[in-house]
Amino acid sequence: MRVAFCSSEVVPFAKTGGLADVSGALPPAVAELGAEVKLFMPLYDSIPVDDYGFIYAQDLHQMPVPVAGREQPVNVFYGHLPDSEVEVYLIDCPHYYHRGSIYTDDADESERFILLQHAAFRIMQRYAWSPDVIHCNDWQSALMPAMLRTVYDWDDLFKPTATVLSIHNIGYQGLFAPSAIDKAGLSRAAWYQGGPMEMHGAFSFLKTGISYSDIVSTVSETYAHEIQTPEFGAGLDSALRARGGDLYGILNGIDPAVWNPATDPHLAANYDVESLGDKAKNKKALLADFGLPYDPKVPVLGIVSRMAEQKGFDLLQPILEPLLREHAVQLVVLGSGQPNLENFFNWAATTFPRQVGVYVGYNDALAHRIEAGADFFLMPSHYEPCGLNQMYSLAYGTIPIVHRTGGLADTVHDWHEMGGQGNGFSFYDPSPFALMTTIVRALAIFKDKKAWRAMQRRGMETDFSWGKSAARYMDLYWRAVHKHRGE
Ligand code: ADP
Ligand code: GLC
Repeated sequence: MRVAFCSSEVVPFAKTGGLADVSGALPPAVAELGAEVKLFMPLYDSIPVDDYGFIYAQDLHQMPVPVAGREQPVNVFYGHLPDSEVEVYLIDCPHYYHRGSIYTDDADESERFILLQHAAFRIMQRYAWSPDVIHCNDWQSALMPAMLRTVYDWDDLFKPTATVLSIHNIGYQGLFAPSAIDKAGLSRAAWYQGGPMEMHGAFSFLKTGISYSDIVSTVSETYAHEIQTPEFGAGLDSALRARGGDLYGILNGIDPAVWNPATDPHLAANYDVESLGDKAKNKKALLADFGLPYDPKVPVLGIVSRMAEQKGFDLLQPILEPLLREHAVQLVVLGSGQPNLENFFNWAATTFPRQVGVYVGYNDALAHRIEAGADFFLMPSHYEPCGLNQMYSLAYGTIPIVHRTGGLADTVHDWHEMGGQGNGFSFYDPSPFALMTTIVRALAIFKDKKAWRAMQRRGMETDFSWGKSAARYMDLYWRAVHKHRGE
């Protein structure tokens, strides 16, 4: 099974969110199962190629790649994902990728990812490498199925090639003016109202991917159902219902090499299920990081998140003040994004200096320290395709409090609903009231040390490793291949 995997962000090279964790962990996991994987991504200015042992691909020097009606020369750096056989091709084009961030609001944003996709095709052609499957991820690589069936249709190299599109977040669709269709080298014939490429009078990368790929997948079973409804489909529900027979949900795994409290190098003290007592050392260190007082009896709530509407912090806003005034509880927050949310948390830290600590920004080490040091992890997301942080929390013996949606519904089982056998706390109604009562329920169980320890153990003993999910992706790849070949 030869797999071309295309993604706009990949751990450890570049990351804004969970897509990067998945793109860094799934390819090695399918490689372990025998797949030969080539991974394609942009060379952003933030990636130190030398540190990762990449070499300049001399044979691809100044390779021309079509974009916006011209041939753009690009260079390629070649290497591997750390400790794996997965080959990585970094597309070097300073004109597009030296922008100081992975994503931009620049006028040529569509061209940046059109280039990525054509570059992947051109590299495969140069090496005469014929993939069985192209695995696209989110809108940034969702045009490849359409390109394959039109622009590259003449090339026999790709005759056997099937396509899988994974949707990691339907809230981001890659909507551009129809001129982007020309920039991609696609035909406007398929762009008409209600057609396979059109959305709100614009050209949608994601809808085009949904329409043209052999198989569509998303990152949890619940989300696979949800996105077929108007409430969660973000305008693409009918397009997804039309593909219902080819739509699958596969829960993400977590990478135990990166997220494991027994070996995590960022922690003040490593621990496992047998030495859970040592988790307290991490709580102490975390509170010290933030200059907050430590009291083992006072539970700490943790948040690590993009500050986006999706994440549901509007539910926390009206209740945080009463929560902090009426309950002995502390809150530690790491995140960045929307200024109104950053300001809200900064306000809380100023108003409750002994209870709230906030770090606005991106900080990988601190993300690990919060997972280990907090007692609870808060994720009131309005929607959550999979969510990785609640799984990291479970693995770290930190109890998740979540809105019951998407992957959160598939991984967090409410303590009361499960008759004391759950691994966390969840609520159905996305309201501040429901969040408040759920937090209060959780705080009560924190006092019951026996129930608490048992709940921590259940989380830590759950197998969230990639093995099972990778096997399901392999099945999906074969399904796509058989479908494409008409078998
Ligand atoms: P999403 O992809 O929607 O952001 P996930 O829960 O799938 O949500 O993944 C988020 C990932 O990004 C996690 O690995 C989390 O630790 C990380 N992350 C989010 N915000 C930050 C931040 N400010 N600093 C460090 N890591 C962060
Ligand atoms: C997205 C989703 C998140 C998911 C991640 C990886 O960013 O918001 O829920 O875990 O992709 O699939």
